[in-house]
Order: sequence, then C-alpha cells, then structure tokens
Amino acid sequence: MDFNSFDISAEAPIEEPARQYYFIARCRRHVTDFFEKNHRYPTACVTTFGCQMNARDSEKLAGILRQAGYVLTEDENSDFVIFNTCTVRDNADQRVYGRLGELNGYKRRNPKMKIALCGCMMQEPDVIEKLKKSYSFVDLIFGTHNIYKFAELLCTSLETQGTIIDIWKDTDRIVEDLPVERKYPFKSGINIMFGCDNFCSYCIVPYVRGRERSREPKDILREIERLVDDGVAEVMLLGQNVNSYGKNLEVPVTFAQLLREVERIEGLRRIRFMTSHPKDLSDELIQVMKESKKICRHLHLPLQSGSTRILQRMNRRYTAEQYLELVRRIRREIPDIAITTDIIVGFPGETPEDLEQTIDMVRKVKFDNAFTFIYSRRTGTPAAAMEDQIPEAQVKEGFDRLLRVVQETAREQAAKHRGKIMEALIEEVNESTPGYVTGRLSNNMIVHIPGNERLIGKLLPVSLDECRGFYYIGHAVSGPKEN
Ligand code: 5AD
Ligand code: SF4
Repeated sequence: MDFNSFDISAEAPIEEPARQYYFIARCRRHVTDFFEKNHRYPTACVTTFGCQMNARDSEKLAGILRQAGYVLTEDENSDFVIFNTCTVRDNADQRVYGRLGELNGYKRRNPKMKIALCGCMMQEPDVIEKLKKSYSFVDLIFGTHNIYKFAELLCTSLETQGTIIDIWKDTDRIVEDLPVERKYPFKSGINIMFGCDNFCSYCIVPYVRGRERSREPKDILREIERLVDDGVAEVMLLGQNVNSYGKNLEVPVTFAQLLREVERIEGLRRIRFMTSHPKDLSDELIQVMKESKKICRHLHLPLQSGSTRILQRMNRRYTAEQYLELVRRIRREIPDIAITTDIIVGFPGETPEDLEQTIDMVRKVKFDNAFTFIYSRRTGTPAAAMEDQIPEAQVKEGFDRLLRVVQETAREQAAKHRGKIMEALIEEVNESTPGYVTGRLSNNMIVHIPGNERLIGKLLPVSLDECRGFYYIGHAVSGPKEN
C-alpha cells in the first residue's frame, strides 16, 4: 500500500477499509511534521493486558502505528502509548489504574505525549466515569467494537486538544484487510469469530465483547494463506467459543468443517485453536482432530467447576459427569492429547464439598495444566447479584489446595513423556540459559534444547531427556525437516 499516493486534502472515503487507509495517510503527515521539528520519528508503545484475543488486537494496533510512521518500542516512556485492557477479573482493572499513574509521570516530562486506552475495560460505563473524573490526562478512549477505526481516532486525537471518548455498545461489523504487525514471524493468531453469546453467570465477556459473529471462511483461509506465504508455520484460531463457529453465517459452517479447510493449506505446519466450550464440542471435531496431521495435540477445555450444582449456577450447561464423559471420549480417540483447563474457586455459594468435587475432577481428568482463578465479582453479571458471595480471604486456603493438586497432576502428566522424541517449533532464544533455545511441542509443552537463534521458527524432532516439573530439557535429534 502506497500511503503517500492518498489525496489527504480530499474528503475521507465512506467505505472501509479505504477510510482507515486514508486516515493512516493523514497520520503520516503528522509524523513527518514531528520528524521535521524533532529530528527523530515519534515512538509508540502498545501494552497488552489479558487474553490471546487482546494480543491479536494489539498486533492490529501496532500495524496501524507502524504504517503511520511510528517507531514501535516496548518502552512506555514514548510519544504514543496505548493500553489494550482486560476486565475479566478485577485485578486486571487495578493493574491498568496503577500503570496509568506511571504514564502520568512520563507525560509531565513530555507534555506532547499521547495516552490512549482501549479494549474490554473501556466497555464498562463505571470505568469511563472514573477515567473522566480522576485520569483526565488520558487523550483517547475507545472500546472493543470500533477498534477497526483506530487510524481515524488516532488522527482525530493528533488534530485536536482534549480527551476523545468513543465507545460503541455493540456492532455487527467485521472489517477485513487492515494492517497487522506480528509479534512472531513464524506463528500467528487469527480471529475466526468475535463476541460470546453464552452468558456464563460470572463472566463479563458477553457484555464487553458483544454478540457472537463469525468471519467468513474464505476471509479466514485467505488470511492464513497469506501468512503462510509470509513464513508462518503455526496458526492459532481464536474465538471465545470456537465450537460454535459459523452458526450464524449466511451459509452455516461448522468449526470442524473450517478446520478441514485450514488443514488443506499447503505449507501450513501446525494448527491450534482456543477456546472450546465443553457443551458444544462435537464428535465431528474429535474425528477431524484425530485424522489431522496438523492440528496440535492440545485441547483447552475450561471446566470452571467440578460440582454440577455450581456449574448450573454458572450457567455452563453441562454436568460434571458430562464433562468427564467428554474427556474420556476425546482421550479414547486421541490418546496422546493434552487437556488443559480453567477453574474458578469461590463462586457464590460454593461449599467445601463443591470444591472437593472440583479437586476430585482434577485428579480424575489428570489435566496437563490448569489456570486457576479466584472468583471476581463483575458488576452487571448475574453472579454479582447472587446473595451468598464468599469473602476472598475465605477462599484462599481452598484455592491453594486446588493449586497443589493441579501442580501435582501436571507434573505427573509431564513426566510421562520422558525419553520420547517429539517435534518442537523453536520459538525463542532462552534468556536464562545461554546456548539454549526454547521450543513448543504439539501438546503445548515447553522444551529447552541447545541451539542458537538460527533455529527460531524451525520445526525439529527433539528428544525429551529430563523433566523439570512442567517442562523438559532435551536435544535435537536431527536438523529441521523442510516441508
Ligand atoms: N472471576 C474469575 N475468573 C473468571 N473467568 C472469567 N470470568 C471470571 C470471573 N468473574 C475465568 C474463566 C475463564 C477464564 C478466561 O477466566 O475461568 O475461562
Ligand atoms: Fe465468558 Fe462463558 Fe463466554 Fe467464556 S464462554 S467468554 S466464560 S461467557
């Protein structure tokens, strides 16, 4: 795209993404002005809080900033800083407020600095009120539904004084073909759907990410093909609940069908996806995974609780028995699969017996890993209005006990692979052990092997020599296999 050829004195186009290209071109003029005054290009920093979805959104923000002429940096003491926020638990919010205080310090020294906030937390009206009242140094605030307009908002912010706040309640739009700046050259996330319609009673996501909408398969496939041409070996298909992908498309498609299509893309080596809701995981998906040579042997399948009574109150729409039966079915068909999960402790009304059932479930399923969270009360969710909220201090002991069992199980699961040879995708140089690089196995486990940066992005067979709790020390048994 040649942004210099845009006529930025003309009116902005109405249609997307042309409109955003126009605003990128217009931002470039401000960047040039900055260069002429300061003899350097302005710097920009994108800080991500939260999940893989946010990480992918941040790559889109970074892509636009790069095209606008900014020099991207990880240093928050820069000319433009944007926090892409998360609000799934209260501690995510608190971290944003804390870090904003630091930014204010930088801004006092660099008054031309622009501070922007976007993402899930901005969809909450109380947050906006608080920002207006106590954080008036923030220049630009937008939410999850209009992130595709970032170039336009950035341009407006550069051309005006005072805070710009633009929050939408919802959208049914998906804008394709905006610039992206990938964090890794060899792997990439791909959004396949946005939003969530499940309304688990504790969860804020359906309120801040809006209704579920799927991208067209042809757009997804085209994006992956381009990424593969660009050197990407592994893709992660992203959605809050990928198992309900495609239900609301004009020509409905199942997630399993989409996976079959993705599998066919030549040159693509690995496929991952996240997150699966147990209630929608189909036998068709299990079959596709079983037959696939590219889909990784890993399933993240959030359990949330091992008590059917609590699952019902959580509106999860499966019982503990159904979850266990599903896991058995998956393991029967795909014995080498790793299953990881999310668990919440301290949901309103949870008794010691309920927690016992969760712990029991962890032992029965033998999770390869589990993310454990203390329940966080999110304003506006049905669970927040439930009567029997449990004080956090009361939850701590049970939480620690669960965590010990989770770690024990994860260690046992990891140890089973000792001596095996598995394929690893080398992701980075190991910062703590000189002469080593770090790779990821199909089952999502980490392995450190002797090597240097030339191996990054390569897939190679490694021997798993020594289990160190949750990861391995190994060595390459041969060089990288070409496709
Ligand atoms: N409190 C604690 N954990 C939560 N999660 C979602 N909402 C909450 C909440 N209110 C957890 C769930 C979900 C993961 C992404 O975050 O376990 O799977
Ligand atoms: Fe939240 Fe449930 Fe949707 Fe996951 S499936 S984002 S936990 S509402």
